[in-house]
Amino acid sequence: MKRILVTGALGQIGSELVPALRERYGADHVVASDIRMPAAGSALSNGPFHHVDCTSQRQIQEAVRRFEVDAIYHLASLLSAVAEERPQAAWDVNMGGLYRVLEVARENSCSVFVPSSIGAFGPSTPKDDTPQDTLQRPTTMYGVTKVAGELLCDYYHTRFAVDSRGLRYPGIISYVAPPGGGTTDYAVEIYYDAIEHGRYSCFLEPNTRLDMMYIPDAVKAAIDLMEADAARLEHRNAFNVAAMNFTPEEVAAEIARHIPEFTISYAVDPVRQGIADSWPNAIDDTAAREEWGWSPSYDLERMTSDMLEQLRRKLGAAG
Ligand code: SER
Repeated sequence: MKRILVTGALGQIGSELVPALRERYGADHVVASDIRMPAAGSALSNGPFHHVDCTSQRQIQEAVRRFEVDAIYHLASLLSAVAEERPQAAWDVNMGGLYRVLEVARENSCSVFVPSSIGAFGPSTPKDDTPQDTLQRPTTMYGVTKVAGELLCDYYHTRFAVDSRGLRYPGIISYVAPPGGGTTDYAVEIYYDAIEHGRYSCFLEPNTRLDMMYIPDAVKAAIDLMEADAARLEHRNAFNVAAMNFTPEEVAAEIARHIPEFTISYAVDPVRQGIADSWPNAIDDTAAREEWGWSPSYDLERMTSDMLEQLRRKLGAAG
């Protein structure tokens, strides 16, 4: 039976990946870890929690040895907008953390899952049907750490036989934990504000098209990739995965089908607009479909219905 360590477990993906992994492999087999401590009564309290600062190799090593971990889902990372504000910290956390996780994985024969991102692409990358193998010259610190991370993971696989696998996630939409300072965060905020205020002020322009994914698909993708037959994987770090793409205008129109009085306005943040403009509109995920059977379940319509229902329950709003 697998024993899994999840870093950054209290973040947007971890908060939903940990329960899914516990459901699949048993609560005692999945150690949640984070640099923060979970709040009392947190959904993660049904299994082990260990405090880990990923910039400390000793702390990662200690968690791996203590719980006899053989797979690490390394989620701890700074997102694009925060990384642009604090590029030095982003390098330390994103690259320093990954390097240390890979070293511990090498020493303890662990497999490693690492999220990459559409942020690993840049302005010279083809914007539509962005191929799996293409130009990657990102212009953000986040993107630099993601490309370097992909290369480092592939290096540890070919040089040290570490079973490293990764996904280039699009913007992720979820309702349990908020994203931590990304460019695609608008697509989460818009649902909260639609329910709480009936209006949303968007920091991206109305026609900015980006790939997006609902969290159940993001969680499924990670688990399916890690369970995939290694013999079928021609690529490893990291697979393009797509589910839907839309603009602020389009998601606002979809929300307005459920909340007719909903309105959107625009107060564009030049930094985040610049980041978004440097990313693709729509990536091609054929390699993921062919090599490990990737197939998303949620499009914009289905996600919006579910997101509004889940958020109404969470926020206790009527309607
Ligand atoms: N959601 C991420 C961000 O906006 C993209 O990977 O930073």
